[in-house]
Amino acid sequence: MFMGRWYRGCFAVKLVSMLRFQILLLFGASLAHIVVAQEHSYTQGDIAAGGQFYRMNCVGCHGGDGATVSGIDLGRGKFKIAKNDEDLVRIIVNGIPGTGMPSTNTSSARATMIVAYLRTMNEVKGRQSIAAARGNAGRGKVLFEGKGGCIGCHRILGSGGRSGPDLSDVGHLLRPIDIETAILDADDQYPLGTRPVRVIRKSGAAVSGLLVNQDTYSLQLVDQEGSLRSIERSDVKHEGPTPSWMPSYRGKFDAQELADLIAYLMRQKGVQ
Ligand code: HEC
Ligand code: HEC
Repeated sequence: MFMGRWYRGCFAVKLVSMLRFQILLLFGASLAHIVVAQEHSYTQGDIAAGGQFYRMNCVGCHGGDGATVSGIDLGRGKFKIAKNDEDLVRIIVNGIPGTGMPSTNTSSARATMIVAYLRTMNEVKGRQSIAAARGNAGRGKVLFEGKGGCIGCHRILGSGGRSGPDLSDVGHLLRPIDIETAILDADDQYPLGTRPVRVIRKSGAAVSGLLVNQDTYSLQLVDQEGSLRSIERSDVKHEGPTPSWMPSYRGKFDAQELADLIAYLMRQKGVQ
């Protein structure tokens, strides 16, 4: 499973401009905006790293879906100035003087990864969301706390378990498609960046947990009981990925239930 993921990660992803058609459809009428749909190749690694940078540096203004700033939709190639990926890299590095878009002081290599992410924002592995139905957040809450048992592992605004990431701000950080993928294929991607790892200590003892933080000297893990554990790097013999303990919910919810859950989570914009 994991090997599969790393292996797949080596392939370049060709971004086919099927988007172009949609964009023309959606925004063709608005002549004020230049629409960009470039063909380009980026690696899965670039896209994943770009997603992390995006969530750290851009989400506050542009939102998880990239459409918060009026007149701009980062995921659908709707820009005012940028005509191609090189323009985007330049704008991300330098900002747009005289507007609310700041210079980000990032390297152009990093900006290129962000562009790779923007170019895939609207799709995950080439598929569109299956939860196209309109969700009902109230019913989603009931599923989150009841049938889904999500609250056993995830906290929302102070209540719930600790063995999964806190989801109080998830509607701000993730797009519906990320949430859908997390629910259906827990092992497939970790958009919030907290991934499960297994550490073997020098003594041979193994500790598994969610990697929530690391620095030069230590790793901080939250184990399956929800306790924070700190491990000195000098005590680590081996560190590697381990399968997620979030169960896969594929087949457990119908499309409407999935849409309800996603609607509920998209509403969680608690921690600003
Ligand atoms: C402090 C808020 C803020 C932050 C942080 C920010 N942006 Fe912006 N961004 C804006 C605003 C406001 C505009 C619209 C500027 C204008 O009026 O043309 C904009 C415009 C853009 C554009 C559109 C350029 C065009 O051709 O119209 C892109 C692309 C963009 N931002 C990407 C990013 C990325 C990527 C990041 C993170 C690295 C980021 N922005 C961080 C506020 C922000
Ligand atoms: C047994 C514990 C457990 C249960 C039950 C659980 N999760 Fe998770 N969840 C996790 C863990 C651990 C992660 C961290 C990443 C990973 O291991 O997949 C996670 C990650 C996530 C993420 C973030 C994606 C990421 O990996 O960055 C979302 C969204 C999510 N879960 C939603 C849900 C929903 C909705 C339900 C109920 C339908 C649910 N979870 C049930 C443990 C759980």
